[in-house]
Amino acid sequence: MSQESQLTTALAEAAATAGHAPSVHNSQPWRWRVLPDALELRSVADRQLAAADPEGRLLAISCGTALHHARLALAAEGWRAVVQRLPDPADSELLARLTDLSHTTADPDAMRMVQCMQVRHTDRRPVSDEPVPPTAIEEITRAVTAEGCRLQILDRDEMLELAATAGHADTVEAEDPELRAELAYWTSRAGEGTGLPAEVLPEQPAQTTVPGRDFGRPGSLPVGPGHDRMAVYAMLHGDEDERDSWLRAGEALSAGWLTATRLGVSVVPLSAVVEVPAIAAIAVLSTSRSASPAGMRLGNDPSAR
Ligand SMILES: Cc1cc2nc3c(=O)[nH]c(=O)nc-3n(C[C@H](O)[C@H](O)[C@H](O)COP(=O)(O)O)c2cc1C
Repeated sequence: MSQESQLTTALAEAAATAGHAPSVHNSQPWRWRVLPDALELRSVADRQLAAADPEGRLLAISCGTALHHARLALAAEGWRAVVQRLPDPADSELLARLTDLSHTTADPDAMRMVQCMQVRHTDRRPVSDEPVPPTAIEEITRAVTAEGCRLQILDRDEMLELAATAGHADTVEAEDPELRAELAYWTSRAGEGTGLPAEVLPEQPAQTTVPGRDFGRPGSLPVGPGHDRMAVYAMLHGDEDERDSWLRAGEALSAGWLTATRLGVSVVPLSAVVEVPAIAAIAVLSTSRSASPAGMRLGNDPSAR
C-alpha cells in the first residue's frame, strides 16, 4: 500500500474508532470528513440538545471526547498529527482538523488506551465499598491536566453542595416540558444507534450521595441496595467558558475516563448541574465493582452494555 493510501485508511479507521467516544445522551453529535491528508471533525447541529444545551457546551465537550479518541487511534498506529481547534471562524461546525500527519513508531500507551475504548462505558449502578486508591486519583488527575484542564476533587462540604445543586437541577428539568420532551426523545430511540436504551438506565434511582440524572423514566438496569459512600466526586474544568475550552474539556474528559478504565475505576459524568450554572463537566469516580447483591462484576465487561 502506498503511504498515501495508508494514511487515508488510518484516518478512516481513526474516525471509526472515535465512534466509541462518550457523548451526552449518546447523541454522538459529530461527523468526520476524511480528506487525502487530514481528518476534519464537524458538529451536527440537529443532534444538539436545543433545550438542555442551547449554547452547545455539552455538544462541544462530546465532540472533544471523540477528537481525543481519534488522536489516540492515530497515535496507536504510529501517526503523529497537528491538531487545529476551531480552525475556521467562518465555519462554526468545523471543530477541529487533524493535519500535517507523519508516520513514526506506534505508541504503546495509545494502543492500550484504544483497547480501553472498547470496554469503557457509563455504569450508573452504585459503586462498591472499596475506596478508590489515591494513586488512581492522581493518575486520572494527571491525564486530565495533560490535556490542559483541571480535576478538582471535592471535599465533603463541596460534595454536599454539588448534591444540592444536582437535586435542584433535576427539579428544574422535571418541571420544564421542553426538557422533558428532549429527554423522552433521547430515551426512546432503541435500535437507532444513538440515545439511551433501557438497559443502561437504572430500574430505580441508585442510592448515591449526589443524585444521578433523572432520565424521566425507569430503565431495566437492576440496581442493588448499595450506596456509593466510597465514591469520589470531582469537578473537571478549564480556564475559560468558551468553545475552545469546551472542546478541550471533552478531550480531558476522554483522557481521564480512559485512564480510569485502565485502572478499573468507573466514571459517571453528571452534567445536569452544568445545564444550570456554567461549569464544564462533573464526574463521579468510583471503583468498578458493583455493590449490588447479585455481586455482578461491572465495569469492563462489554457484554454488560
Ligand atoms: C458531556 C457528557 C455529559 C454526560 N452527562 C451525563 C449525565 O448527566 N448523566 C449520566 O448518567 N450520563 C452522562 N453522560 C454519559 C452518556 O450518557 C454516555 O456517555 C452515553 O450514553 C454513551 O454511553 P457509554 O458512555 O456507555 O458509551 C455524559 C456524557 C458526556 C460526554
